[in-house]
Parts: sequence; structure tokens; C-alpha cells
Amino acid sequence: MGDNAPIGIYDSGLGGLTVVKEVLSLLPGEDIIYFGDTGRTPYGSRPTAEILGFMHEILTFFSAQKVKMAITACNTMTALGLEQAKTEFPFLLIGVNNGVSAALAASRSKRIGVIATEATINSGKHVKAIKAEDPAAYVCPQACPSFVPLIEQEKLFGPEIETSAREYLQPLIDSGVDALILGCTHYPFISPLIRDIMGPEVVLIDPARETAAEARTKLAHNDKLATRAQGRVRLCFSADLPRAERVTACAIDFPRSQGLAPRFELVNLQDFYLEV
Ligand code: DGL
Repeated sequence: MGDNAPIGIYDSGLGGLTVVKEVLSLLPGEDIIYFGDTGRTPYGSRPTAEILGFMHEILTFFSAQKVKMAITACNTMTALGLEQAKTEFPFLLIGVNNGVSAALAASRSKRIGVIATEATINSGKHVKAIKAEDPAAYVCPQACPSFVPLIEQEKLFGPEIETSAREYLQPLIDSGVDALILGCTHYPFISPLIRDIMGPEVVLIDPARETAAEARTKLAHNDKLATRAQGRVRLCFSADLPRAERVTACAIDFPRSQGLAPRFELVNLQDFYLEV
């Protein structure tokens, strides 16, 4: 039967676009509504209660859009709020894949690095998941608090991000990891820099593809895959559309010639929150 209702994908800002890219390639028939909270990013160094409040507002917006599924394209909100939110909203809800199985499969030494926001690292989510799959594995978790603000400011190259990256990644190099989980959806934007610093022996794990695959599996199990060949894309942000448009162009190559250009929209979450 299928279901042609849209899929919501959301993040604290622009990072979730790295997941949108994979969903577009795996599920081209789906209508997608992306929400990036560019007005309040970053989330990862904020108190948990505040992050959960923001997440609730975004999911309320998606409720109003009548989505059939929402993909939490943010490790921070996945780690802190996903299980609770699943009980509060009527649509299918998934988080970012944690990258653990892929990292363990790729690692020969079973020494795994994890880089993420402070909130995600403090949640201990990746360490627990790695230890659950392989209790003998060694894990080196590293919070990288300046990455998200710099990426949001479009500083994907240059001395500022390079200095931060060298500082954050040195302990991982010192501890001899051979697989590194990008535990924040913003980080694939700077994977060339991370790869340069870590060296060719270290496999970078970006769980975006796996996240899109999980969405497809869940939709298929619930008989909710779209029945059309080509969906439409709305990209909604809470602030600064020109910046969102520029960064989207770095992340996703929309085949505009076929009329598939996304629609950019400024959205005030409060308009939807107060209605409910
Ligand atoms: N992309 C978000 C994540 O995956 C970044 C959160 C933040 O804004 O700090 O965690």
C-alpha cells in the first residue's frame, strides 16, 4: 500500500544535511522536510533539559506537518532524548546509527576512537555500545566542542578549525586507534581535514548511510515506503537562510535541471508549539 506522507529529518543546525544526502540517495521517492535549528545551534554544550525542550518543539513542528517518520539526524538528541520522545509522538522515530558495528568491523586492533559533542561523550553512549559488542575493545572518547560552532560559521578550512582539530585528535593518535567514529552529524563536513590529521591507516566511520538504511528498513516493515518515483524537499531553518543555502550546496548536489531544487524556508517553531 505504501504511504506518501513526508519524512522529517532534524538537527541542531546544518549537520543533519549529511544524513539528508544519504536519505535522498537511498529513498528518492520520499518527500523530505528538514529542520535545522540554526538560530540556537550548538546544542551539544547546553544543559540536558534545554536540549530536550528544543527537541520537543521540533517534533511538535513535525507533528503539525503530519510526517510518517522523523529521523533524529543529531547524535546529541539521539543520546539524550530519543527513547522518551518515542513514547510521546505518534509517528515512527529513529536516531542516528551509532557506528559501533561498522567501527568494530573495520578495526584490526580493536582500538576505537569516538569524537562527538560534550553532551554525547558525557552520555557514555558509544563506550557502552562498544563494550556491549566487544568487552575487550579499547575506546578513546573525545569531545570536540569547538567543531560545531566553527562548521556552522562555514569555517570548514583554515587555521582555526585546523588548530582545534590537531588539539582534539592528538590523544586519539597517541592512543593508536585505527577506526574513528564521527559521532556528530556535523563532522563529515570536515572529514578531509580529520583524515589528513589521523593518517591513511585510520578508517573514518560516518554512520549517515547506515542511518538512511535503517530508515528504509523501518518504513518497509511498516508498509510506509512512498509509492512515487521522485519526492520533493523542503529545507527549513530557524535563522539565516543564506548561510543555510551556502552550506547545503557544499553538502548536497541537487539535480536542479530536473526540477528537484529544494525549497528553503524560515520556520519559527513557536508558531507550531503554541498551537498545540
Ligand atoms: N549535529 C549534532 C550532533 O550530531 C550537533 C549538536 C550540537 O549542536 O552541538 O550531535
